Amino acid sequence: MTSVPFLDLKSQNRAMWAELKDTVENIVAEAQFILGPHVQAFEQRFAEFCGAKHCIGLNNGTTALHMALLAFDVDPGDEVITTPHSWISTCWGIAYTGAKPVFVDIDRRSYNLDPNLVEAAITPRTKAVLPVHLYGQAAEMTALRDICERHNLRLIEDAAQAHGAQHAGHTVGSIGDAGCFSFYPGKNLGAFGEAGAVTTNSDPIAARIRSLRDHAQDGRHNHVEIGYNTRMEGLQGAVLDAKLKHLAEWTQRRRDHANYYLGQLKGIPGLTLPAVDDPLSHVWHLFVVLVNDRDQFRADLEKRGVATGVHYPTPIPSQPAFKHLGYKRGQFPVTEDVMSRCVSLPMFPELTEAQQEYVVAIIRDVINKR
Ligand SMILES: Cc1ncc(COP(=O)(O)O)c(C=O)c1O
Repeated sequence: MTSVPFLDLKSQNRAMWAELKDTVENIVAEAQFILGPHVQAFEQRFAEFCGAKHCIGLNNGTTALHMALLAFDVDPGDEVITTPHSWISTCWGIAYTGAKPVFVDIDRRSYNLDPNLVEAAITPRTKAVLPVHLYGQAAEMTALRDICERHNLRLIEDAAQAHGAQHAGHTVGSIGDAGCFSFYPGKNLGAFGEAGAVTTNSDPIAARIRSLRDHAQDGRHNHVEIGYNTRMEGLQGAVLDAKLKHLAEWTQRRRDHANYYLGQLKGIPGLTLPAVDDPLSHVWHLFVVLVNDRDQFRADLEKRGVATGVHYPTPIPSQPAFKHLGYKRGQFPVTEDVMSRCVSLPMFPELTEAQQEYVVAIIRDVINKR
């Protein structure tokens, strides 16, 4: 029986290892374990890639969100408007500052924060808006930026799933006041371990995050505020710098795979496909369809060797960790509907034509037999 994994990191990493072996040996020989020249080189290249002035390398995407919000003085008691439909880290970043996440529902087509609902959620305590470019598709940044400018709010992008996605000709990470990236191994640009970064066009914000990540030192042993140890490792900088050269090609392959799925799965009753208005807006971190009776559908696919995922099953305001905010089921009807029916299909650059043909054939068969 054929089987198709949800994600295959091993083949990409094997290929990268040949490219990286000497560099890694050099890092060990030179003991360049934390920050250092490879991180600096990556920061410069990734900033250029995003069209941003600065990139600050960090130890993961969760801390990128935390550091960015801290740098903009998001304080206890402040409010940050965000989406209920994301990986939990979006809200960890907010919660770590002591601020309160305020949720508004998502748009039915893009599954991203619905800009039409944001203004009604603004209060005198609102400090920032934090959209997520979910599944790799850029959020409605023009509308969100307009709202933030009118209300003097910071716009912080959670770009953890969307390296290289564009909105209206601008690359994510350069559109808001700061962009937060994850380089978790399974991301479109993934490290050999944990890594993340913040991008920004602001000199003072970049300087503050550089300081915060390194114990807030201003000169050796002089700590000017509460600092953190959230620096990027040298090895991760080297891996990411080498992988960045391949990212455009990997993204193109993801787009080709997405077009194949979109063409082949079109018109299948009971299957809702992702909606994309601008092909450059999406880098297809995930290819997510909606089906009724999701668990049975996944089990049927699994039995035939097709692995799938769920991103994500529970609205963040319904998580026990955020119960104290007092949100109730029913407050986010679009999110709740999408979360109850979403299934992520296999999507990674190395996916072969034969594997995709198999996935499509099995989906058709499973749905026909319903
Ligand atoms: C939308 C989103 N935000 C934030 C993160 C956090 O990144 P990390 O896992 O590197 O902490 C992730 C990835 O896990 C993510 O998908």
